Amino acid sequence: MFRTPSGTATYYGATPSYDPTGSGSCLTNYCHSNGVPSSALPVYKTASWAFGKNSIVGTPGECSACHDAAPGTNAHTGHLSRGYSCAVCHAATAATNSSIKDASKHVNGIKEMSFAGAALGTEIDVSDTCTTSYCHSNGRGVYSSPNWTMKATGACGSCHATAPGLGGALIASGAHFAHFSTSAAAYGPMLTTQNSTGCQACHNLSSANHVNQSIDLNGTLGYQRNGTGTCTPCHAAQVNWTTGAVTCESCHTGALSVINGATAPDKSLAATAGHGTSAIGRGCTACHERNARHINGGSRLQP
Ligand code: HEC
Ligand code: HEC
Ligand code: HEC
Ligand code: HEC
Ligand code: HEC
Ligand code: HEC
Ligand code: HEC
Repeated sequence: MFRTPSGTATYYGATPSYDPTGSGSCLTNYCHSNGVPSSALPVYKTASWAFGKNSIVGTPGECSACHDAAPGTNAHTGHLSRGYSCAVCHAATAATNSSIKDASKHVNGIKEMSFAGAALGTEIDVSDTCTTSYCHSNGRGVYSSPNWTMKATGACGSCHATAPGLGGALIASGAHFAHFSTSAAAYGPMLTTQNSTGCQACHNLSSANHVNQSIDLNGTLGYQRNGTGTCTPCHAAQVNWTTGAVTCESCHTGALSVINGATAPDKSLAATAGHGTSAIGRGCTACHERNARHINGGSRLQP
């Protein structure tokens, strides 16, 4: 056997040999290997020829006969533990986790990368780096470049900014910053930056919602896509996520804001019977400091 070992059996430096003793064994053969993972050694399985019929193909252990059915190499564990199937990244080769779609792509010496679902459009380059993957983006077309062999490149905070306590910079797009800042001039609700509880004041962050191609907000807020809507009970009136500061009146008149159980003092009369009347014409910020500390203690009254 293997007088002139060649082809797939010899890929990645394999030196196939045949041991005729007993039922006859095939050794160090690429075909019956773990596929030689990046940055790891090849692991070869021994296949027997005589009585070997029906010992691999069609058996429950078929997919773990050469490589593991759920490979633990490089970033496989991190993805498989989140429920992603082989077909998310090897769509051309595997139909499911236990069936092959196209045998011509399997055991051909090429680890075919072909993406499906949210991962569609992902490119992977020779250095094992994924580019233009929606999964590793901020959800709005800004992509990170995780490396398959370097775990830290896929960590929390690498796809989009989160919060310092989660590892990474504080997310600052739209009005995110104003809701988390605790600086001396912070006037927002000072949500925690230590864990994802702060995110959940607005987002529904279940594992089914994360990286599902939709930016998920808590349904009870009343937020409408594209920046507008209410965010009750904190903003009982319409606010816009992307146009900066909201008015004092949006929380202190009409439908009142309630934050951590405290209701905003009602200033609905200011415009008709208070300092806001046309005779006096003084807006809230004539006497109150716009950027002074507010909710959670502190006072906005100008010195
Ligand atoms: C005879 C050995 C063997 C068996 C059995 C086997 N594989 Fe593979 N598989 C390989 C090798 C070797 C590779 C490495 C890449 C290559 O050469 O195509 C591989 C690669 C893969 C890949 C990566 C994509 C690709 O194109 O390389 C997937 C997915 C895969 N196998 C799924 C399965 C599934 C599902 C089963 C069970 C139905 C299975 N394998 C059974 C040997 C095997
Ligand atoms: C998140 C994407 C992703 C998923 C999901 C995934 N793989 Fe892979 N797989 C890769 C990448 C990336 C490589 C490395 C390709 C290379 O080295 O060229 C790889 C390589 C492989 C290899 C070659 C040997 C190795 O360990 O690197 C095998 C075999 C393999 N995958 C099988 C599977 C099987 C079976 C499943 C499902 C149980 C699966 N993969 C799920 C991305 C994935
Ligand atoms: C005060 C409410 C609020 C809080 C708190 C909040 N978000 Fe958001 N987030 C939004 C809104 C509103 C959008 C834009 C939704 C839209 O219009 O599609 C958004 C969008 C996003 C996006 C999409 C990309 C972007 O920058 O627009 C990501 C990612 C995100 N948030 C992550 C987080 C993380 C991580 C946290 C916690 C550290 C967090 N958010 C806390 C309201 C919030
Ligand atoms: C692999 C890349 C990746 C990593 C790592 C990641 N995210 Fe995300 N995240 C996304 C994408 C993509 C979105 C865009 C919305 C979507 O598709 O669900 C998102 C959206 C969000 C949102 C908005 C709510 C939603 O699901 O729509 C929050 C909150 C969030 N991520 C928090 C976190 C936290 C907390 C961590 C770390 C524990 C984290 N993310 C790590 C990719 C990632
Ligand atoms: C926990 C309560 C709370 C939640 C939830 C909340 N906000 Fe706020 N938001 C505040 C407070 C407090 C301020 C600071 C108001 C002020 O004093 O100007 C603020 C400020 C803002 C600002 C102005 C930002 C700036 O730069 O000054 C916008 C825009 C805004 N919120 C939109 C939203 C939207 C949209 C949602 C829902 C997706 C939301 N908020 C959810 C409490 C909240
Ligand atoms: C997001 C809703 C919201 C906005 C916008 C808002 N407030 Fe308030 N405000 C509240 C809530 C709720 C309270 C009651 C909680 C408390 O006392 O800490 C409050 C309390 C106050 C107080 C009494 C406590 C203190 O901090 O002195 C003053 C004064 C005040 N707001 C002034 C203003 C002025 C002036 C503006 C505009 C520059 C403004 N608020 C904008 C929700 C808001
Ligand atoms: C002419 C100056 C002036 C204007 C204009 C003004 N305020 Fe005040 N406001 C004050 C003073 C002074 C106090 C403190 C009263 C006290 O200590 O009893 C105060 C107190 C408050 C309080 C806390 C007291 C309470 O009612 O619980 C809130 C809330 C408040 N103002 C909101 C507003 C809002 C909202 C506007 C705009 C619609 C506004 N103010 C316009 C001077 C003003």
